[in-house]
Amino acid sequence: MPTITNIEDLKRIYERRVPRMFFDYAESGSWTEQTFRENTSDFEDIRLRQRVAVDMTGRSTASQMIGQDVSMPVALAPVGLTGMQHADGEIKAAKAAEAFGVPFTLSTMSINSIEDVAENTTAPFWFQLYTMKDQDYVGRLIQRAKDAKCSALVITLDLQILGQRHKDLKNGLSAPPKLTPKTIANLMTKWAWGIEMLSAKRREFGNIVGHVDSITDTRSLGTWTAEQFDPSLDWDKVEKLMEQWGGKVILKGILDAEDAKMAAKLGADAIVVSNHGGRQLDGALSSIRVLPEIMDAVGNDVEVHLDSGIRSGQDVLKALALGAKGTFIGRAFVYGLGAMGQNGVTTALEVIQKELDTTMALCGERNVADLGRHNLLVPEDFGGRWQA
Ligand code: GLV
Repeated sequence: MPTITNIEDLKRIYERRVPRMFFDYAESGSWTEQTFRENTSDFEDIRLRQRVAVDMTGRSTASQMIGQDVSMPVALAPVGLTGMQHADGEIKAAKAAEAFGVPFTLSTMSINSIEDVAENTTAPFWFQLYTMKDQDYVGRLIQRAKDAKCSALVITLDLQILGQRHKDLKNGLSAPPKLTPKTIANLMTKWAWGIEMLSAKRREFGNIVGHVDSITDTRSLGTWTAEQFDPSLDWDKVEKLMEQWGGKVILKGILDAEDAKMAAKLGADAIVVSNHGGRQLDGALSSIRVLPEIMDAVGNDVEVHLDSGIRSGQDVLKALALGAKGTFIGRAFVYGLGAMGQNGVTTALEVIQKELDTTMALCGERNVADLGRHNLLVPEDFGGRWQA
């Protein structure tokens, strides 16, 4: 096993180990992938301000997200089909997050079900909700998350319909994979993945299969979203869902100051500045580029989190220094999971914490709560070059 020092190392192992269709599912954006690329490249536009001769003893990355103690402000993002990246992937990722002291968010489109994760963990996890046309089903899903003692509902607002994802369409993405000559040829080179998958608890969408009747293809994410997702979701419906849940709510997928104001007005406990990892509206700005404007609009009214593009502890630090209280990683933990299962997720978290801690120290800070704009060198036009 090569020495792993950064997230890119995990990605290389992941790419070799996991069937192409699932690697492509994670490692792609929609349309031209411009937003997907800029999510990471825009972080590079921000530089760090080095400070010296500062006492660096007693440093801590510990913080809080929605009032919950975290060993660092980095939650695991909801990622669909995580249990296809590694057998029982959601259970393994949740266990790694629990041991590390960071929140795990289970996607509606997960392979392991809400109940599977609850049975295998003790720390409360967060549940991400996609709203479906079938109101009874949504009601049951919310009740299942309550029964599992989930400590927050993460409502995704930017996927009423699925963005155009060329690789998934070409690969015929499905869970489990449909056995075409192309997939069989690829699966034959992924035998370690396949052997583990034989003993997986589940290989289908665990929150859905067996819980909804009216679906024509139980394996396809594209079919699910087209047939089931509620394209009429609006702020009134969001408010009703928040009432139905009655607990802490995080509204995810905010990229515009006006939407951020609406979310704050509804009383969300946090918003996630996110473009869904560049998987929805290609051509939208990167999350890190819109963060300053959103902080100006609602920074005093609601806790702001950020996802899309975070691949290192330096990225986490930049988001925090621009005002975010928390961040989410999706691909960065999936690379680890696909590469090495639960240990890989732990390794990803360790890598990010080490990078965050070292960068913090070299910026002359001892505590994540003290990070701020004073730690950064930001181009004058960052966030300001595009006008509505
Ligand atoms: C689902 O959330 C996806 O982005 O594929």
